[in-house]
Amino acid sequence: MNRVAPGRFLTLEGIDGAGKSSHIEWIADFLRARKQQVVTSREPGGTPLGERLRACLLSEAMSLEAEILLLFAARSEHLSAVIRPALQRGAWVVCDRFSDATYAYQGGGRQFDPERIRRLEEWAQGDLQADRTLLFDVPCAVARQRIEAAGRSQDRFEAEKTVFFERVRETYLARARREPERFRIIDGTRPVEEIRARLETILQEELSQ
Ligand code: TMP
Repeated sequence: MNRVAPGRFLTLEGIDGAGKSSHIEWIADFLRARKQQVVTSREPGGTPLGERLRACLLSEAMSLEAEILLLFAARSEHLSAVIRPALQRGAWVVCDRFSDATYAYQGGGRQFDPERIRRLEEWAQGDLQADRTLLFDVPCAVARQRIEAAGRSQDRFEAEKTVFFERVRETYLARARREPERFRIIDGTRPVEEIRARLETILQEELSQ
């Protein structure tokens, strides 16, 4: 059970190209088949305002401070309009990225002071944290190949250099090492069936708690 509400908050994280987004609906279907209420969402985004902020964040040039404040503005709206009400109803919230992404991308990738991120996090979220975080991990070269193979134009984050993604990945892994009880690392280079089997084990464990 979540520390602040009866529902459960599950987040998916990883560098761009790690493959996490392709599993979110499968996770939701798995839980719904076991009689759970599920809300899927994503960050930045998840609300009409959040989706407009997402469009800006992925395409407009802006200062790093503006980027972080827009991410937290979108998150704050998402928390009050979607995440907290769903958790209060006892639903699962399965969210494609949450605040670990800000530490990894803005803190690690863009080297912004993590203590300042922590203060914004405390302001926007209070006590609310993900109950479980699935970190899809792949080497940056594999992620880069996948993004390029997708053949579409790259957004402002995807267009960053490999060294940026190395820092993002390392920050995610460092957070997972610091909070092993919350994180589950999933090897995103494995075949889909193997990843699904691992997800099933993790979700069964969650359901039995
Ligand atoms: P997505 O491609 O996984 O939907 O995420 C959009 C991009 O937003 C992705 O490149 C990571 C970036 N992002 C941040 O930089 N900081 C954040 O806090 C979040 C939630 C996403």
